[in-house]
Amino acid sequence: MTAAEILAKQKEFLFPSVRPYYEEPLVADRGQGLHLWDKDGRRYLDFFGGILTVSVGHAHPKVTAAVTAQQQKLVHVSTLYPTEPQVQLAEKLVQIGPIKPAKVFFTNSGTEANETAILTAKLATGRREVIALRHSYGGRGAVALNMMGQAPWRLMESEIAGFKHAHAPYCYRCDFGLKYPDCGVRCATDIEPLIQTETSGKIAAFIAEPVMGVGGFIVPPPDYFKVAVPIIRKYGGVFIADEVQTAWSRTGKPWGIDNYGVTPDIMTFAKGMANGQPIGATLARADLADALKGLSISTFGGGPVSMAAALATIGVIEEERLMHNAQLLGERLKLGLTALAEKHRGIGDVRGLGLMQALELVKDRGTKEPDAAGATQLLEATRRRGLLVGKGGLFGNTMRIAPALTVNAAQVDEALALLGEALAEAAI
Ligand SMILES: Cc1ncc(COP(=O)(O)O)c(C=O)c1O
Repeated sequence: MTAAEILAKQKEFLFPSVRPYYEEPLVADRGQGLHLWDKDGRRYLDFFGGILTVSVGHAHPKVTAAVTAQQQKLVHVSTLYPTEPQVQLAEKLVQIGPIKPAKVFFTNSGTEANETAILTAKLATGRREVIALRHSYGGRGAVALNMMGQAPWRLMESEIAGFKHAHAPYCYRCDFGLKYPDCGVRCATDIEPLIQTETSGKIAAFIAEPVMGVGGFIVPPPDYFKVAVPIIRKYGGVFIADEVQTAWSRTGKPWGIDNYGVTPDIMTFAKGMANGQPIGATLARADLADALKGLSISTFGGGPVSMAAALATIGVIEEERLMHNAQLLGERLKLGLTALAEKHRGIGDVRGLGLMQALELVKDRGTKEPDAAGATQLLEATRRRGLLVGKGGLFGNTMRIAPALTVNAAQVDEALALLGEALAEAAI
């Protein structure tokens, strides 16, 4: 099929919400390492990795070999039959994860991982009220939709009660008009009056992303979780870290929450865990996991092929010391973005951790009015130059830059040069 035929069929046969990037969508054909090729053979430097999911590069040979071998041996049996890859990966997660002792439940997506975490917290505490964050993204199941803090993604009015939304740790747009550190981390201390006034005072959980991904790579201040989490625990809730975007060394530490010196009670994973193979995982303190005793099955959860892909991906991250690469190259990327912000007045904020960096675009640095049109133009301009980046944020004005952890210095420099040209073209 030609690109035009594929686009025509996409329009005719897929739900309209399956909405691709770009005025003329990019029909992806193949990928290798940091590069993606479209159907017309044009090569792109991929600095978004299928939404932070291609964590060790497209078609990494070790992941491909592991998936192919597993595909030839055993593809599916359901969780009714234990398999070696499933217990191997569960053991690995328990060994490398910060929660001890812990147990794992495998699913197929971040949505399911989060819904499993919420269900576990509710069953373990016998309570239903949950604190989530404004600007958060949780997935597209009913619970996840009602949990998240962004109207454009919720699609309809709330159907599930019990979620209360705390102020986001969004320093660039502080809801209280304060500045860190003089603010006393007000966004975190405000959780206590939120619990006292908006809930029964008996909460099941607090769910938060260590860096808010879809929200526009919002990085909470350093002591945010050290202040917020004890408040949650004081009221009997457990802390769920949604690590769907931030795990696997992405932020330059093993887990996103490691940047904050707090140990969660439950963690959720998906995206980059299996380099593109569908997967979700919920890691919970063993006593909490033991609350999920009743019948609950994920037909494809723990599937041998996804398990093999995850084991290989984690192996590559460890063997190739990619956490170190995320620190080094993340620093290089951030320095380059900061230099671009000195030249381009439309960049209001540069933020991020490791290889998860963002530019928030504004019409005016004083008023901070979001520049969504500028972000759209910039997205098109980067694509014209052969660079793929993402967009996000409640106002659609944040560029998300997150290459595979295998990226090298030359590729970071190339991306920065292309981004600089695109910023000039879009008059940012
Ligand atoms: C932080 C976070 N949690 C959960 C999800 C949902 O994951 P999935 O799309 O795999 O269901 C996403 C997806 O973007 C996410 O970014």
